[in-house]
Amino acid sequence: MTEQVNPAGPDDGAERSERVERHWAAVATALMALLVVMAVFAGVHQATLPQSHVETADPRTLHLHGEFIESNLGSALEPDGSVTVRAIGQQYSFTPQCILVPTDTPITFRVTSADMVHGFLITGTAINLMLVPGYISSIPARFDKLGDRHMPCQEFCGLGHEGMWGRIKIIDKATFQRMAVDTRRLSCVQ
Ligand code: CUA
Repeated sequence: MTEQVNPAGPDDGAERSERVERHWAAVATALMALLVVMAVFAGVHQATLPQSHVETADPRTLHLHGEFIESNLGSALEPDGSVTVRAIGQQYSFTPQCILVPTDTPITFRVTSADMVHGFLITGTAINLMLVPGYISSIPARFDKLGDRHMPCQEFCGLGHEGMWGRIKIIDKATFQRMAVDTRRLSCVQ
């Protein structure tokens, strides 16, 4: 291209503004392309990887291996002093049927379903989980007072739904810790 004879002429202004316009059109196009790439990446990423807080448990093999085998159900005292409670809901009961927990202790409930959607609700508390087969439902809890609470299934799960309920027994922290010395997994099922 040849140099413009008159750099301050009216043509130069028009050309410059056109150049600026083209420049911004390119920037806008690049931005749009970037957004599309980001959206596609996010979608593919989410579809291929489970989200970090979603935990799965195969309902067909719960009783065979993994954390929900029968000998691992109940309340476990962890090395850090907290308690992990593992339980299963199935038509039409909970295992264990009576869950034993201590007062004044951080507790984590980890519950799953062996067949269909059930509910896990502890009366008088904010604990209310949906148990979906294939997934582990987890919730932190803490109990200040001794006592018994009911644990009814609150999702309709079939003809026996009304009769599906368990119990929670909250006992003194020191007593719980004494019991945990001899028994790896505690419950109050007699
Ligand atoms: Cu289980 Cu309703």
